[in-house]
Amino acid sequence: METPDKELFEKVVKIAQTRGFVFNASSIYGGLRSSYDYGPLGTILKKNIADIWWKSLKTSDVKIYPIDTSIIQSTEVWKASGHLAEFTDPMVDHKPTGERFRADQVPDDLKKEDLTEPRQFNLMFETNIGPVQDDNSQVFLRPETAQGIFVNFENVLRTMRAKLPFGIANIGKSFRNEITPGQFIFRTREFEQMEIEFFCKEDESDEWMEYWIQKRLDWYKDLGLKDNLLRLRPHEADELAHYAKSTTDIEYLYPWGWGELEGIANRGDYDLSAHQEKSGKDLTYFDSKDDSKYLPTVIEPAGGLTRTVFAILLSTFQEEQLESGDTRTLFQMNFEIAPIQIAILPLSKKDELIHICKQIEELLMPFYRTEIDVTQSIGKRYRRQDEIGTPNCITVDFDTLDDKCITVRNRDTMKQERIKIDSLVQYFQS
Ligand code: GAP
Repeated sequence: METPDKELFEKVVKIAQTRGFVFNASSIYGGLRSSYDYGPLGTILKKNIADIWWKSLKTSDVKIYPIDTSIIQSTEVWKASGHLAEFTDPMVDHKPTGERFRADQVPDDLKKEDLTEPRQFNLMFETNIGPVQDDNSQVFLRPETAQGIFVNFENVLRTMRAKLPFGIANIGKSFRNEITPGQFIFRTREFEQMEIEFFCKEDESDEWMEYWIQKRLDWYKDLGLKDNLLRLRPHEADELAHYAKSTTDIEYLYPWGWGELEGIANRGDYDLSAHQEKSGKDLTYFDSKDDSKYLPTVIEPAGGLTRTVFAILLSTFQEEQLESGDTRTLFQMNFEIAPIQIAILPLSKKDELIHICKQIEELLMPFYRTEIDVTQSIGKRYRRQDEIGTPNCITVDFDTLDDKCITVRNRDTMKQERIKIDSLVQYFQS
């Protein structure tokens, strides 16, 4: 097993904040605890990961339908799903300071007699709709994207003429009033999830569970997370969520130890059955193969998008000692997810070089994410691009004016190649 690296956390958080990946929310007012905004680079990285998630589903060998559901749903949804009654954490108060902790996360140095008895604390954020605040106006921000899928199961089935097995995928913000958020964007009160509910026949559900565990694990590896920092962890019976028959987590070795990246659960027909009973609507599936009607079983791969962004930053971070004695830091991100794929750097700010940079950007922009970077010395610009994970830099120098060639520098090897501008698109495609 790889040893957790505590220093890594601070280094990555610092670069993420100083280079435009993640900012403290409301920072000009001193910040809001455990709330974060995604900066220009973080926003692009997050979007790239979300796009790759969807692409992997669209092109998979099973049918997956996308859906985009409301953050605020009827309170009946949360009653039926069990969230209103059961989505709670036990919480204790530290009497001398009034500080609150999750009962299983009380710091060791606090005395037991200074703590209150544990009380259940519901993690859903409450708000009101409409101008009158009463019992009928109370609503909740969704704590998971999953329920938006279940309450639309029949809509998708009917409008898409869907046949089992098939999945529905929902991606977006979820909200949990976590008692102890922390570790940067690992656990926040507002975060993004990417969830799939995969509907199948009960007697095929074990095979589909294995299918999704493997498929999702491979996805994280392809995305660029290191193999030895990923593991599968089946849940013990006593830690299963209220809806789950079995669950296997995909865990990542964060700097403080193993933690969840995605949970893959067999939810049985818990949700469809609960919504069918509460709504009175028939949510059964008609199987024309044998004219039977039943509630499908559900396999749920539920991942965290914002948590994946953090894992990618941690996993791809590198520090290298150079022969000059300097250290260079880099995010060795895959070309597909790097916020900027090709940086174009003029050797000087002279108009004729900038003009060529703009021409090159026009050539590449339809295919790649590019940036023209003119500020500071060429060495410092290479370092900055390494630090933000840009796989390639193109340098335009005075010889370019004559030979119409530029230098391509590779982030990982630092090797440089002289290439004709005309063949650049082809060069990056090969
Ligand atoms: N529908 C099932 C469900 O929501 P979960 O394990 O509670 O399952 C799924 O959440 C994923 O959402 C987690 O594996 C994690 O990546 C992400 N997640 C959950 N709570 C989070 C939080 N407070 N901050 C960031 N990500 C979170």
